[in-house]
Amino acid sequence: MEAIEQSKIFRRKLYNGYEIPCIGMGTFGSDHFSNDDIASAVEGAARLGYRLFDCASVYGNEDLIGISLKRIMDSGIKREELFIQSKVWNDKHDDVINSCKKSLKDLGLDYLDTYFVHWPFPNYHAPGCSVDSRAEDATPYIHEKFMNTWAQMEELVDMGLVRSIGTSNVTIPKLKLILRDCRIKPAINEMELHPSFQQPELFDFCLENGIQPIGFCPLGSPTRPDRDKSPDDVADMKMPEIVELAKKHNVHPAIICLKWAVQRGQIPIPFSIHESEYYSNLLSVTQDPLTDDEMKIMKSVDKNCRFIKGHVFLWKGAKDWRDLWDLDGTITKVK
Ligand SMILES: NC(=O)c1ccc[n+]([C@@H]2O[C@H](COP(=O)([O-])OP(=O)(O)OC[C@H]3O[C@@H](n4cnc5c(N)ncnc54)[C@H](OP(=O)(O)O)[C@@H]3O)[C@@H](O)[C@H]2O)c1
Repeated sequence: MEAIEQSKIFRRKLYNGYEIPCIGMGTFGSDHFSNDDIASAVEGAARLGYRLFDCASVYGNEDLIGISLKRIMDSGIKREELFIQSKVWNDKHDDVINSCKKSLKDLGLDYLDTYFVHWPFPNYHAPGCSVDSRAEDATPYIHEKFMNTWAQMEELVDMGLVRSIGTSNVTIPKLKLILRDCRIKPAINEMELHPSFQQPELFDFCLENGIQPIGFCPLGSPTRPDRDKSPDDVADMKMPEIVELAKKHNVHPAIICLKWAVQRGQIPIPFSIHESEYYSNLLSVTQDPLTDDEMKIMKSVDKNCRFIKGHVFLWKGAKDWRDLWDLDGTITKVK
């Protein structure tokens, strides 16, 4: 397969002037894919034209991805062309600088393009624990504590270790407080976004505040861990409207999900270890856009169907996963 020309993959400008590709690749193996396969996919994807890679310390593969990044740069792709992201995990909210330095070391880089607070809760859970388990010291969102974490994120920018900082899995009420009290504003918010879960209010709030949304699970995450599956979940790529549009455009439904995402204004980060899939995912943004009417059809398929509910981050006394998402517009407190 021939590499796709960089000029065909447009970049979006962040409020701080840095530019980010309009599509990237995820690197979370979802308990199904080996870290070796993911690292190989990163290398293969860069050869075909990907420049944005979404990493995280908790994915447990940054050291192997670091080897791939070295090969990518040895092949002639410059560091400045790449856009590499990582995230601080929930048990390191008090030790953000060291956590970032560890990711940098593993990835073999001297700066990150974006560093995120992966979840706004400092609630650790053991890998593979049941969705019903509650950590002893788990708490709901405590804004003062979060801003202490955020101050360390800001320090990383001051130190030149990170270009942009971002939030992930936050809500409008949390973002309002963060925007009120931060010194350096989040440039990106990474959030679950796919046709059946469009989060229009949060999406619009981000854009109105100059925050670029990145959409995770952009294809409806068919291979997500079993703990994140519920009986009433929608399968995005099987929705009749999307299947119909795919037939019309003579592409896989995945490609319709990605065209919609990019044309709407979010940056999708689809995951795949299969070359034919990640190639077609990147190609999707270069040709045959959806029409305005087709974008309207895509807008109409929203089912408010959240997959990544975050059960394992709940605290003792929490009612259910909805407590994490501030559904009534206020931040849930300990009951
Ligand atoms: N910030 C956060 O809290 C957070 C949470 C979740 C995810 N993320 C990020 O978002 C990334 C993407 O999310 P995700 O991996 O859950 O879901 P996804 O990208 O929506 O779905 C990935 C799956 O879709 C299938 N696929 C990919 N391209 C395809 C194509 N062209 N045709 C058909 N099937 C295709 C693959 O399955 P097969 O191999 O079976 O084909 C792949 O495993 C993650 O890797 C991670 O980097 C972040």
